Amino acid sequence: MTTLTTQNPIKLVQITDTHLYGSSSGTLLKMNTQDSMDHVVKILKENEQEIDLILATGDIAQDASIDAYKNFISTMEGLNAPFRWIPGNHDSAAVMKDVAMGKDADEKSVRINNWQLAFLDTSVAGQVHGKLSQAEIDFLNDTLSAAEADDAIQHCLVCLHHNPVKGNAGWMKDIGLQNRVQFFDTVKQYSKIKCIVYGHIHQELDFEHEVIRCLCTPSTCIQFKPNVTNFALDKVNPGYRSIKLHEDGSIDTEVIRVTGYTFEADFSSGGY
Ligand SMILES: [Fe+2]
Repeated sequence: MTTLTTQNPIKLVQITDTHLYGSSSGTLLKMNTQDSMDHVVKILKENEQEIDLILATGDIAQDASIDAYKNFISTMEGLNAPFRWIPGNHDSAAVMKDVAMGKDADEKSVRINNWQLAFLDTSVAGQVHGKLSQAEIDFLNDTLSAAEADDAIQHCLVCLHHNPVKGNAGWMKDIGLQNRVQFFDTVKQYSKIKCIVYGHIHQELDFEHEVIRCLCTPSTCIQFKPNVTNFALDKVNPGYRSIKLHEDGSIDTEVIRVTGYTFEADFSSGGY
């Protein structure tokens, strides 16, 4: 576990669902995912200074190739900030572990000032939906109970890929975190849990569930339209989330999207 002492507030950035390929010409529903990520990284560099940590919350790769993860790492190197990544449904946790070898990218626990951050693996090989294995639930309990007992830690934030609250579109019914009740039953036992951060459903959300702040962040490529029955792409641009964690447990957060650029995508697609 890394322990960092840094500025107040702590400055985090969330980048999610980059869906990169081994080839930089790879497209998802006709959107070039490296190109769209580069546009997001460009505005991120313009807007954010002194980033303490980047949260990369899964679907890093679309093709789970070694080169896709290397492409992600080389893009991150331009940001001059450490990152932690977790797998999504399109990723291979094993390949990510191999590529991260010798780096901290797949570290599951980071302490920054009086905040504890935990990173969960919700991926299930070959499945779109997510599930926390018993080992991940045990890790979550161990991390949150250690934080609860430690006077130096006052607040906790948990990152995962899959939505732990039902998605807001009909087609999302079966793609979220399968054991979401178990997840909330686990986290709500601990008073220091303040925030849950995720991706997967490619849209911006900021709400409370079981009295815990939940943040979902747009993909750096295609966007899913909320509140529809069948799959539909949204025409809003890709972006990232800035998260500022204050010493008193309060959180300032904002999604910042690329502006002044029109991305190409297959907006008539009925699935992905
Ligand atoms: Fe995704």
